[in-house]
Amino acid sequence: MDLSEPLPKAEFRRMRDAWIEATVLLIRGQRLPPKSQLEFAHRFGAIKNYVKAGNSHQEFPAVLVLSNLKQEGRPLGAPVSGRYWHTDGHYFREPPSASILHAIETPERGGETRFANMFAAYEALPEETKRRIEGLKVVISRVQSRPYNYPDRPPVSDADRAAWPDMPQPIVRTHPVSGRRALYVGGNVPWKIEGMPEAESVPLITMLQQFAVQPQFTYEHRWARGDVIVWDNRSAMHKATAYDEVNDRRHMHRVTVEGDLPF
Ligand code: OGA
Ligand code: MN
Repeated sequence: MDLSEPLPKAEFRRMRDAWIEATVLLIRGQRLPPKSQLEFAHRFGAIKNYVKAGNSHQEFPAVLVLSNLKQEGRPLGAPVSGRYWHTDGHYFREPPSASILHAIETPERGGETRFANMFAAYEALPEETKRRIEGLKVVISRVQSRPYNYPDRPPVSDADRAAWPDMPQPIVRTHPVSGRRALYVGGNVPWKIEGMPEAESVPLITMLQQFAVQPQFTYEHRWARGDVIVWDNRSAMHKATAYDEVNDRRHMHRVTVEGDLPF
């Protein structure tokens, strides 16, 4: 298919159903200018723009540019993107449903993206663990995650603190369309769990996070130019892998779609 042309309604429905079932959808060989990528994303729902100004496309601010390339000495976007396991916008009350990433230039080596299927991870948990985590809420905190996710950045300021309220999210998330349950624990931060002492919550959340990213639940995507991946943030975690940012080239565009209140 050619995603730069509007898909007929029935064909889009099949694609959307396949995406919800599979969690990660790959469409190869595309050439999607930013405007077309936004139009394609819009088929999934309203566009959610939470792109920092410095990392956004000059003409289309809702397009996140992940790139180590420069134009007239100015970086085109963010060279480093999510190198820890995460789900996009976990810290929002209503996190984005779909993220759509398009590879425009791909490195010779590295720069793969890994995905973890959080439906599969949840379903494989021992029944006793499922019972133990039923109804629990994980407290997503950007203040707490900063040193884990961005060890290179300055410490959290008072202004950051004021702008980043804690966001309790269900540890088990029910998919609003399929009704299937997924772990929703986020990658590498020993989050607090509402109403649980840390001595108990830290080992529990860490165990769930490590359980979820075992090889049997993950897929590593080796990008080719023209690839488009649509992933479901309600049922996937993902992480970028390293590449040679000095000598190699990686240039990607990401668009995200509004989601709803997790339950
Ligand atoms: C993202 C992201 C990973 C990558 O776009 O949200 O985490 O491999 N990207 O670039
Ligand atoms: Mn991401």
